[in-house]
Amino acid sequence: MLDNAQTTQPVINRLVVIGLGLIGSSLALAARNAGLAHQVVGISRRASTLELALEQSIIDRAETDLAAIAPQLGAGDIVLIGVPTLTVPAILEQCRQLLSDQVTITDVASVKGSVVLAAQEIYGELPAQLVPGHPIAGSEKSGVTAAKADLFVDHRVILTPHPRSGAEHIERVEKLWQEVGAVVSCMDIKEHDEVLAATSHLPHFLAYSLVDTLAGMRENREIFRYAAGGFRDFTRIAASDPIMWRDIALANREAILSVLDQIMTDFGQMRSAIDNGDGTYLMDVFTRARDARNHFGKLIETKASKKPMSEKIINYAVSPGGVARGDIRVPGDKSMSHRSIMLGSIADGMTEVTGFLEGEDSLATLQAFRDMGVLIEGPDQGRVVIHGVGLHGLKAPAKPLYLGNSGTSMRLLSGLLAGQPFDVELTGDASLTGRPMARVADPLAEMGAVIETAPGGKPPLRIKGGNRLHAIHYDMPMASAQVKSCVLLAGLYAEGETSTAEPAPTRDHSERMLRGFGYPVTSDGNRASLVGGGSLKATRIDVPADISSAAFFMVAAAITPGSDITLRHVGVNPTRIGVINILRQMGTSIELSNEREVGGEPVADIRVRHAELRGVTIPESQVPLAIDEFPVLFVAAACASGETVLTGAEELRVKESDRIQSMADGLVTLGIDAQATADGIRIQGGQLGSGTVHSHDDHRIAMAFAIAGLRASGKITILECNNVATSFPGFVDLAAAIGLAIDIDTVES
Ligand code: S3P
Repeated sequence: MLDNAQTTQPVINRLVVIGLGLIGSSLALAARNAGLAHQVVGISRRASTLELALEQSIIDRAETDLAAIAPQLGAGDIVLIGVPTLTVPAILEQCRQLLSDQVTITDVASVKGSVVLAAQEIYGELPAQLVPGHPIAGSEKSGVTAAKADLFVDHRVILTPHPRSGAEHIERVEKLWQEVGAVVSCMDIKEHDEVLAATSHLPHFLAYSLVDTLAGMRENREIFRYAAGGFRDFTRIAASDPIMWRDIALANREAILSVLDQIMTDFGQMRSAIDNGDGTYLMDVFTRARDARNHFGKLIETKASKKPMSEKIINYAVSPGGVARGDIRVPGDKSMSHRSIMLGSIADGMTEVTGFLEGEDSLATLQAFRDMGVLIEGPDQGRVVIHGVGLHGLKAPAKPLYLGNSGTSMRLLSGLLAGQPFDVELTGDASLTGRPMARVADPLAEMGAVIETAPGGKPPLRIKGGNRLHAIHYDMPMASAQVKSCVLLAGLYAEGETSTAEPAPTRDHSERMLRGFGYPVTSDGNRASLVGGGSLKATRIDVPADISSAAFFMVAAAITPGSDITLRHVGVNPTRIGVINILRQMGTSIELSNEREVGGEPVADIRVRHAELRGVTIPESQVPLAIDEFPVLFVAAACASGETVLTGAEELRVKESDRIQSMADGLVTLGIDAQATADGIRIQGGQLGSGTVHSHDDHRIAMAFAIAGLRASGKITILECNNVATSFPGFVDLAAAIGLAIDIDTVES
């Protein structure tokens, strides 16, 4: 990409690189190849280095002293300090003496606090022209001979501007790095030094120490002869430049000591575990570490420093037409996946889950329980093994539990955690932070829990530990399985019988799964109740495919002539089959076969074929049974003849987005007559056109409009579809497998 051709207009006048080590010379080479500066000047004390740099066309001009070029430098020039960390102050002193305040100064040292401190001392107050920086690139190789023009491509460069850094200087440095292919971000100076101490400095010291220890052993030749991949992988960085790393160790003393102390404590515990034959401790550490490595592995491996996918915005471009045909299994049920982790964690013994949904929402629940000390293996292709800690075995998490986009995690956890002996805070992303939590905080307060919410009953939730809960009967003001589950889970920790009464039937996975864990729950009409103080026994759970995910393909087949789709092993719990009932009411042909019960939940294969759909008035009794499927059912309504009317569904306004408004707006954009009402929507069937619609960061809105593409007359662009990963990882691939054409466009956020 950045090799020899002059690809770009110069964005700076002169680039002066002081210190032609790996970073300095690679930047000079990349900048020169790309034609970023009118002149690239290299400064080094060593004539041999300068000769090599000239010979290899890394620089245009060589100098041994900044003084030789300083008088010619002014606005639009950048001086980049690429010397070892402890030499930076000496160079800054020269800069103060020799450079006009118009020249932009930046550096590449791995420690930023010491650079800023030195600049403060030298200049009196931090100069506007200074923009400290740190490219997270490099290798164990050093010196001008290691220069690589593409060293920074897709690598992160962290800038740590100080409050007085001038905007034009920041912009110039940012541009320089971007033009050589780097991804630039800004960070606070202290945070930078702490993060780098843990992620870069500590691993180097561990590698140096390991090699030094082994090399010092008498039998070192033997050891090194047999040292294989593991040793090689772990110690590659011990071949790095000693001066550079000595300087880093001394310059970032405090942050490094703090992580060193921590790891030495952990090492001490590992030593005792080995000494005492404590295999459980070792299994815990190794499993946690392996899972964390796997979790972050993709990020680490692809580009250690590249901008993570989640920071890029994913838009869908859906081509019109296609026929939905195939035989598929969609990912596991989200509601059951959450509950399997929660109940498995507080059970006694080891619970094995298969079919677990590896989506961001259920993974947020999984992480929360790891944060509370539960050992959880996996997920590995839907298999999770939870080493339950019993009803009273959870530990206080070290930090707030971050639940991302997941309302189910927050509402169910609030109940489960209300009766714990420790304090805990539950937080989430922007969407979750806007969702109502008083509906769970109120009944929990009635039970004696102490929960603080943000104004308006919104997250974060701060739950005070150590409160004794008492059983209540709760008449639920809304039909919500999350509220019911929250109260019942709190009831596990309350004295006496806790019961709920719901205004309409809602999903009963909590009740069924509790029974599966051997915990008695009574269901009687609209009432569910349990008595606190019992225990859960570990079990096996087979999570069926999620009917809420299957719904997208059911509608795909229903609206598209010639379609025929079979969806395998779908959960068809009677509290979830509103989508089947409503589609049948509209005229769709749906056959259930192979009906069976798996772990207390009904499961079936579902075959859906196209039929001419007609608009219907949706019975309010179906609303809680199809609560998550309405976005895609509205697409079916848009393809039906006549009017579809939904009422009694005000709950849709407080989901991941206001689903009534999000869908009405998008459908209108696509040329459909759709009118939002306070508690529902009226949709006149018509011809879907083309246009750009917004998902409002809501997974189900994004997927619903993707399905609309099958019957649209032109292309549909759907903005911000990242959250599809919360419930349906692999949606685009599966959609492609049955005949939809969805292109993914990623754009920088
Ligand atoms: C869920 C219950 C429903 C549903 C959500 C999952 C659950 O929410 O919309 O996606 O797992 O209990 P409400 O209970 O708020 O209706």
